[in-house]
Amino acid sequence: MKRDDGTLTIEDCPAPMLAERFGTPLYVYSRAAIESAWRAYDQAFAAFDHQICYAVKANGSLAILQLLARLGSGFDIVSGGELARVMRAGGDPGKVVFSGVGKTEAEIEQGLSAGILAFNIESEAELERINAVASRTGQTAPVSLRVNPDVDARTHPYISTGLKENKFGIDIHGAEALYHRAAAMPGISVSGMDFHIGSQLTELEPLADALSRSLALVDRLEAAGIHLAHLDIGGGLGIRYDDETPPTPAALAERLGPLLAGRRQTLLMEPGRALVGEAGLLLTRVEYLKPGHRDFAIVDAAMTDLLRPALYNAWQGIETAEPVDAEARLYDVVGPVCESADTLGRERSLALVPGTLLAIHATGAYGFVMASQYNARPRPAEVLVDGDRVHLIRERESLEALWQGEHLLDTP
Ligand code: LLP
Repeated sequence: MKRDDGTLTIEDCPAPMLAERFGTPLYVYSRAAIESAWRAYDQAFAAFDHQICYAVKANGSLAILQLLARLGSGFDIVSGGELARVMRAGGDPGKVVFSGVGKTEAEIEQGLSAGILAFNIESEAELERINAVASRTGQTAPVSLRVNPDVDARTHPYISTGLKENKFGIDIHGAEALYHRAAAMPGISVSGMDFHIGSQLTELEPLADALSRSLALVDRLEAAGIHLAHLDIGGGLGIRYDDETPPTPAALAERLGPLLAGRRQTLLMEPGRALVGEAGLLLTRVEYLKPGHRDFAIVDAAMTDLLRPALYNAWQGIETAEPVDAEARLYDVVGPVCESADTLGRERSLALVPGTLLAIHATGAYGFVMASQYNARPRPAEVLVDGDRVHLIRERESLEALWQGEHLLDTP
């Protein structure tokens, strides 16, 4: 929220105070915003037997996983690392679904011994591997086939996943035969069906379409004696970066409700961005103003801290977070990294002086998690605001952390 004098606040904490205390660049999250986004989802689907499995990839900070676990959330993971994080944060492995096209044997063993809810299978070869690993260790792996329903999610091609040319999921037309194979495997128990058609979805029809196609398959399986315990509709609801008007969870539930009526499967969903995206911002300070052919504002955050603009040409809102006495001009907001792609926003109207504090909005999802140490830049700190309290949930990386685990040669 912006005060009349131009000071940005996160819950009851002024952004300049946070920047002063913890330094910049700094990721700031609102506990209330995360919890209310989760509850909105949960309440929207209250009429259904359901389980939210938060997509850890969107933001895997332990404290955030802990908050969500306490609310009763499950988790959608894509690696052994994410499973370890969920368990470290106190998450219930019995509410974990494991997605991803490349699960290793070690990751499969890790999932089996943790007792996860289901493996979302993405290929026949993966099904065979999971069967082999489970059989060898005397276990039965609960699996859900991720079908690729071949619908166009109408989002950015880099984050669209439900078309048949995408690497994700099993072609819905071949899935029936694979279900029959899976049902006959000794190490496998067939438990569900899953799809995820893309991210930052701003329309409901592609999701409804994917659900209808999946339900038709559920019915054919049912008729053949293969009964599924759950149906997983993936994640994907968009958030507001600029002027988008993404559907709310309530609108999603209302659109899908009639299709789901009378079904006995537990409904699973894997939202990531919609739960944490708008709950976070990135604070950064102007280091230099560089006028010329284009006016550049060089800030202390970079593509290493927030990759989305460089990777997807994504638009993120940028505004001043404190009162400034200057004329607004059009600035390209850029970071210090030696790449032209290190641009956080182009032609933004901002009133700036050197040292001005800026906030980059809607960076709670796919922000810190995609940060790197390129150019030997320590990754930023993260704080969680709760009313007027602030929790440092991740320290700024130290210089020593930059070479943690490295070894100098011990030979001349
Ligand atoms: N489930 C599966 C299987 C997924 O692959 C994803 C995201 C999700 C759930 C969560 O989707 P969400 O609700 O967050 O849309 N880095 C990109 C987004 C990549 C999304 C990958 N999969 C970005 O910054 O836009």
